[in-house]
Amino acid sequence: MLIAQLSDIHVRPRGELYKGVADSNRMFTEALTHLGGLERRPDLVVLTGDLVDEGDPDEYANLRALLGALDLPYLVMPGNHDERENFRRSFADHPYLPRSGPLHYCVDDYALRLVALDTTVPGAHHGALDQTGLDWLLATLSENRAKPTLVLMHHPPFLSGIPYLDPYRYVDDEALADVLGQFQNIEAVLCGHVHRAMARRWAGTIVLACPSTTTQIALDLVDRARGRSYIGPAACLLHLWTPESGLISHTSSIGSFPGPFPFF
Ligand SMILES: [Fe+2]
Ligand SMILES: [Fe+2]
Repeated sequence: MLIAQLSDIHVRPRGELYKGVADSNRMFTEALTHLGGLERRPDLVVLTGDLVDEGDPDEYANLRALLGALDLPYLVMPGNHDERENFRRSFADHPYLPRSGPLHYCVDDYALRLVALDTTVPGAHHGALDQTGLDWLLATLSENRAKPTLVLMHHPPFLSGIPYLDPYRYVDDEALADVLGQFQNIEAVLCGHVHRAMARRWAGTIVLACPSTTTQIALDLVDRARGRSYIGPAACLLHLWTPESGLISHTSSIGSFPGPFPFF
């Protein structure tokens, strides 16, 4: 099974730029074209939050219009830049999304079980789950302790090493690790939010953060770092799973590059 992950798309109303500089709408279309051009067709696309930038209905309308170019099955989940009720309304035709409350869900139609957590906190940019969310996760994972499972959450539950980002991470990661640590079938935890590829061993599994389809956060691993981003190269993650080798996650850069050159 091949799962493509796109994250932090930050769609704007038609004709408007992300942060006034990045054409996130065009870059999203380029990301979808990239997926359409892959030699191996993904079985599923997951969009791991910050699908729009300000959570407004006109952004969601444009998001749905742009998604019309995607002819693959896809799952959506919110990030801190999404607005829960506008999000829910705009994906009312997605039956796996709950009708009320946080947008946690489980999709069990594939070789991998997908458990998505809504880690957004309305009005805030950090991530968290309340006890009800943790209880839902424990109950959902307990339904099947054998089938390989991916957990999806927008906010990574780790310190990135880029200091100004870290107040906006998933907080209270120990309570979440206590739940996940009870299971041996979590292939990975897939996140976004940090606009850069990162990986960490955690809670008996691995956490992977996906790059953004628009701006990439500067790799400033120093205390004095100040918030800054670059436009490109954008990328997505391609998660290849087989029963024999488990999950292999590739970073796939979006764009045109010199090559291919002969390997031998
Ligand atoms: Fe983002
Ligand atoms: Fe985010």
